[in-house]
Amino acid sequence: MSAIQTVRDVASLRAQVAAARAEGRQVALVPTMGALHAGHLSLLDIARAHAGFVVASLFVNPAQFAPGEDFARYPRDEARDRALLAGAGCDLLFAPEVETVYPPGFRTSVTVPGLSEAFEGAARPGHFAGVATVVTKLFGMVQPDVAVFGEKDWQQLAIIRRLTADLDLPVTILAGPTRRDPDGLALSSRNAYLSPAERAVAAAFPRALQEAAAALAAGRDVGASLAAAERAIRAAGFDAVDYVALVAPDTLAPLAALDRPARLLAAARIGATRLLDNLEVVPATGELGG
Ligand code: PAF
Repeated sequence: MSAIQTVRDVASLRAQVAAARAEGRQVALVPTMGALHAGHLSLLDIARAHAGFVVASLFVNPAQFAPGEDFARYPRDEARDRALLAGAGCDLLFAPEVETVYPPGFRTSVTVPGLSEAFEGAARPGHFAGVATVVTKLFGMVQPDVAVFGEKDWQQLAIIRRLTADLDLPVTILAGPTRRDPDGLALSSRNAYLSPAERAVAAAFPRALQEAAAALAAGRDVGASLAAAERAIRAAGFDAVDYVALVAPDTLAPLAALDRPARLLAAARIGATRLLDNLEVVPATGELGG
């Protein structure tokens, strides 16, 4: 496995990207905050399938953490991440310092009203402005042809798709399906925070969502199906369910009936850890409206 080249400043990054383009290669970006797992590596696979030059960014973005959140203790191990990226066929790691992304005098904030306030935005005020701003910055710095994000953070994905379209950014957004442990738990860097006992309980979360998705697809009442999922998650030992909602996949507008392809979004807390998940829910054939 060859060592992966790392750049920390925009001039070096642009020189590498320009050299790849001069060779006729398309450029893909996989933005990450490190603490890489198989879910991230599957995004690298998608990037490699679409571009001849794959850049991963590693930046724990302070702007998307509220005071009191886990910015300081967010898992950081650049050497481990570099080895994983090299093994996944990444061509270049962009790992900027905070001052490179947010130099003195930085003032701009990118917000996507209407998609950012509910769900994760309600639990983490300001989070999506931080995400939207850093992703816009990364697009400007790397100037990729394609960028790959995980479906695991569905609301984030919807916001990034919206801002890319609204701002006419010349980048194609690709989405990678959620990767899961064998018991169904979605891979997440934050799973590392779970104690063994919490990890054992955590599998009840995706199981409850699978059951709700199946009930919805079979035509059961939306409110009753979502309430049953909440009860099952709590009964399994979760401390709180922040939301279980059925929404339109792009606008995130809540749906009272499954009359079109939809997304089931959920967040629940176990101990000090908040877990997120989401599933596609498609009405059984013949129940599509219009
Ligand atoms: O999903 C993440 O890891 C982050 O929110 C992202 C997209 C890299 C922006 O910091």
